[in-house]
Amino acid sequence: MRKKIVAGNWKMNKTWEEARILTAEVMGMVADEVTRPVEVILCTPFVYLSSVKSQLGNSRVKVGAQNCSEHDAGAYTGEISAGMLQSMGVPYVIIGHSERRQYFAENNKTLAVKTDKALASGLTPIFCCGEPLEIRENGTHEALVKQQVEEGLFHLSADAIQKVVIAYEPVWAIGTGKTATSQQAQEMHAVIRRHIAAKYGQMVADSISILYGGSVKADNAKELFACPDVDGGLVGGASLKSREFVEIVKAC
Ligand code: 13P
Repeated sequence: MRKKIVAGNWKMNKTWEEARILTAEVMGMVADEVTRPVEVILCTPFVYLSSVKSQLGNSRVKVGAQNCSEHDAGAYTGEISAGMLQSMGVPYVIIGHSERRQYFAENNKTLAVKTDKALASGLTPIFCCGEPLEIRENGTHEALVKQQVEEGLFHLSADAIQKVVIAYEPVWAIGTGKTATSQQAQEMHAVIRRHIAAKYGQMVADSISILYGGSVKADNAKELFACPDVDGGLVGGASLKSREFVEIVKAC
């Protein structure tokens, strides 16, 4: 059985004080209200990881980073390595979010290296893929997403790829309020899983959690998560409000 996961991606939001309040609220509500075995992750800005992690203590809620460097160490001002995250006990890291691809020129080649660095440090990469609007409109979205997965992940061994979580996030659905329909999400998740199965076999493909991201809200989460190949969500805006986020967790 693959893991059900709901991860909040806070992006560049919240002051430290706000982060503490949000963490406390989510932690409390998850403890009181979430009985199902769903992994809950808060991907906070780097500067809050340490304090959020100690605040969470032995709560079932985990922390994740939003990025890591493709380098191990050295003169890379402003960068954070996978090894640094490991040394702080951070278990998850988002790799290749579309905003990183779009604003920071990250490409599949760099993302393959970042994935390697994360895995080598024992972190679980949450590897993002997804097509922009014009690609969806010209009908080449399946080809593009398959290429993203192939170039980012297919150099990995069967053992290694099973340690990766994939997030399908159509760019046109991110922060727009325009969610993919559950049918569109299911179709693309199945495309990704079949593509993995063709290379690694069905058992490997069936063991990998594929999350949906893009305007997931409390009122659409249930329908999205009911799709057979959707194993949870990567949630942006709605993860900034504790009640809304926990309702999404409960829908999983
Ligand atoms: P929204 O949920 O705000 O659309 O963002 C999705 C996302 O980018 C999560 O990584």
